[in-house]
Order: sequence, then C-alpha cells, then structure tokens
Amino acid sequence: MSRTLPYSSEKITMPNSAKYWEDRYQQDQTGWDLEGPTPVLQAVMATISKDARILIPGCGLGWDGEALHKAGYRHVYLSDWAESAKRAFLTRVPDFPEDRFLTGDFFTWSTESPWIDHFDLVLECTFYCAIPPEKRENYVQQMAQILRPGGQICGLLFTFPLTDQGPPFGGSTEEYRQRFSLPFELTALRPHPLSIKARADKEVYFCATLQSL
Ligand SMILES: C[S@@+](CC[C@H](N)C(=O)[O-])C[C@H]1O[C@@H](n2cnc3c(N)ncnc32)[C@H](O)[C@@H]1O
Repeated sequence: MSRTLPYSSEKITMPNSAKYWEDRYQQDQTGWDLEGPTPVLQAVMATISKDARILIPGCGLGWDGEALHKAGYRHVYLSDWAESAKRAFLTRVPDFPEDRFLTGDFFTWSTESPWIDHFDLVLECTFYCAIPPEKRENYVQQMAQILRPGGQICGLLFTFPLTDQGPPFGGSTEEYRQRFSLPFELTALRPHPLSIKARADKEVYFCATLQSL
C-alpha cells in the first residue's frame, strides 16, 4: 500500500468497533503506519522527563512507544482497540510490560478510576482523526480526566476538510482552538518543520495544557 498520506485511499465509514480496526490490521490495510517513530513526536519526547507518565492512545503498532521505551522512559503506556496491534508490538518489543499496553475501547477504559489524573503527557498521532467525529467532544473530556492538572496533550492533527468520509476524518485550526479551550489552554497550534513530507501541508502540531481550575 502506498505510504502517501493521509493514510488511505479507501474511504470506509463506521470505524467505531474493535472489529473494524482488527480487520484493518488483519487485511494489512494500515496505510497510516509509518513503520517507524514519528519525527515530530520524537522531538516532543526529547523535552520530557524520563519519569513522566506518558500515554499514546490509539497507538497502533506502537513505533513511538517503542522509541520511548528503548530511550529509557520508565512509565510509558500504550492503548489500542485492536488485539493484533498489541500482539505485533509485543512480538517486536518483548521486554515492554504487557500490562501497560491497554486494550479495549479507550472511551470506556479511560473513565476507570486508576487512570483519573494519572498521566503527565498524552501523545496524539492519527487517533483523533480515526474516531467518529461525533466522539470528538468525548475525546477531549476523557483527556481532561486522565491527565493530571498541569499535564499536557501534544501531537499532530490533520487540517484537510472534515467531511462525512473517513477515516481519516479532517478538521481545522478553528475547530482545534475551540476544542482545546477551557479546561485546556492551547500553547501551540502550528505547522511543524519535522512533519513528514506527505503530511506537511495537511497537519499541524498542537500542544494543550490542562488547567488547574
Ligand atoms: C489510524 S490508526 C493510527 C495508529 C497509530 N497512532 C499510528 O499513527 O500508526 C488508529 C488507531 O486507533 C485505534 N482505535 C480506534 N478507535 C479506538 C478506540 N475507541 N479505542 C482504542 N483504540 C482505538 C485503532 O485500532 C487504530 O490502531
């Protein structure tokens, strides 16, 4: 499959089930996968303490998680709905603690008490664009629950127009400014020089801090 992104030429609706995503992995329809870490996220990681509690939701094959783990970050958590993604990751990175790769629907597990106020940093990369757009407000609320006050969510968001076709579903800087307003404060929303070439004019880097209210 071509790696020219946004991540797929096929437009399939109803990405709202484990089976949908499981099938994509089993049928090798994973055009979003960079087969290595995301340069922008690597740059963010370089500024973060090795003791930070970091989550990558919808991590897929987990290349950024692998890079964090191998660089000595001690509290890395990954999450994905597709069991195949977890299996592939653990085969590649067998010394990663299995219980830190959380499966199940993010919108369900992230409301459970161990995770409330838990994370210092959430790294976003092609998860927001993969969920049904009607869940976006829910996404922001969940992030506000699982981050500690002062914690941050940083990563990449697409800027091609939002339509009913997807995933990937698009968005706009206007939307992101509004979504990551109180209880968040947006501290960055701009193109990033390390965006991969195929996405450079289609994504922005963003970072938002959860306010202590
Ligand atoms: C487009 S892929 C991106 C994967 C990875 N972030 C990357 O950039 O390679 C979206 C991922 O989100 C996962 N996903 C979608 N909805 C989810 C949900 N509700 N809970 C957990 N994971 C979900 C899918 O299984 C899939 O692996």
